[in-house]
Amino acid sequence: MPAFDSRLIGNSTEFARVKNTARLIANTQANVLIVGESGTGKECFAEAIHAHGSRAHKAFVTVNCAAIPDGLIEAELFGYRKGAFTGANGDQRGHIAAADGGTLFLDEVGELSLLAQGKLLRFLESQQIQPLGSSETRRVDVRVIAATNRDLYQAVSDRRFREDLYYRLNVVPLAIPALRERRDDITALLDHFTGEFARRHGVRAPSYAPAARKRLKGHSWPGNVRELRNLSERMVVLHPQREIDVAELPPEIHTPIVKNASRLFQLPATGIDLNALEADVLGQALTMSSGNRSGAARLLGISRDTLLYRLKKYALD
Ligand SMILES: Nc1ncnc2c1ncn2[C@@H]1O[C@H](COP(=O)(O)OP(=O)(O)OP(=O)(O)O)[C@@H](O)[C@H]1O
Ligand SMILES: [Mg+2]
Repeated sequence: MPAFDSRLIGNSTEFARVKNTARLIANTQANVLIVGESGTGKECFAEAIHAHGSRAHKAFVTVNCAAIPDGLIEAELFGYRKGAFTGANGDQRGHIAAADGGTLFLDEVGELSLLAQGKLLRFLESQQIQPLGSSETRRVDVRVIAATNRDLYQAVSDRRFREDLYYRLNVVPLAIPALRERRDDITALLDHFTGEFARRHGVRAPSYAPAARKRLKGHSWPGNVRELRNLSERMVVLHPQREIDVAELPPEIHTPIVKNASRLFQLPATGIDLNALEADVLGQALTMSSGNRSGAARLLGISRDTLLYRLKKYALD
């Protein structure tokens, strides 16, 4: 369907599978929780699901949950009447009312405070809003799509995110794989963005030498599609009409490619404290296995003796 394939470039097996799920979701009214690293395309998916469903001709309203201070959350979501608080100089429709009949996109939903989570949950359960300073409640029909790059399930176990809200939002989960987990999409995305930016900047598109393409395919793309998009634009601007070889690629792409570079862990440029990391992982395994040492050892793929030795080393025994 055009709404998906023209907006969401990529046909790797992994990505095609996610697009198929999104297509199924788009035909329903179910709440969706989109998870994925920063820059993987969560917002793109939310827009495509809206554009492809029965609410397409109605509003798509984005709420950046990370940007709303706690004191303003009710006013922002539910709106207010003139005089409801100091500075309320007129009636203001909130985001939820603005999305009536359409889709409410709750971006970075994992950043909501517990207080804000409670208010949102109340709305999701009642489907009703009461603007601040108003005595009337109003029924609103919105489809909610939420997105986060946090592990919300972990946040629920840590009691930073309400479990009841989590299940309300996560009726259907949609996990967008990181770009390094779908390297077959890299070339198509590169060509797509190169064309887009050449048109936008009114220049002839550069081409990429095979070695440069190979290098790009091997990069780990910590910033995912956003990083690739920015790089494509930079190359269009700096090397119009030229052939880009490895030497023209920016330094961060220059790090040598490790064979089979599907890393378990990406070492940050700032380095890490390996001992602290090991102690932390050991602690997590013990918590997960409810203190059972054999269970923890199994989780870590080491023998019970090795586990006991390491626990002793970090005084975790
Ligand atoms: N499959 C794709 N095809 C074309 N463009 C894409 C695709 N995925 C992402 N993009 C583009 O990459 C950029 C980042 O995507 P988007 O904003 O949707 O990511 P995100 O997951 O919401 O990131 P963040 O977590 O940082 O908010 C945008 O410019 C978007 O248009
Ligand atoms: Mg986003």
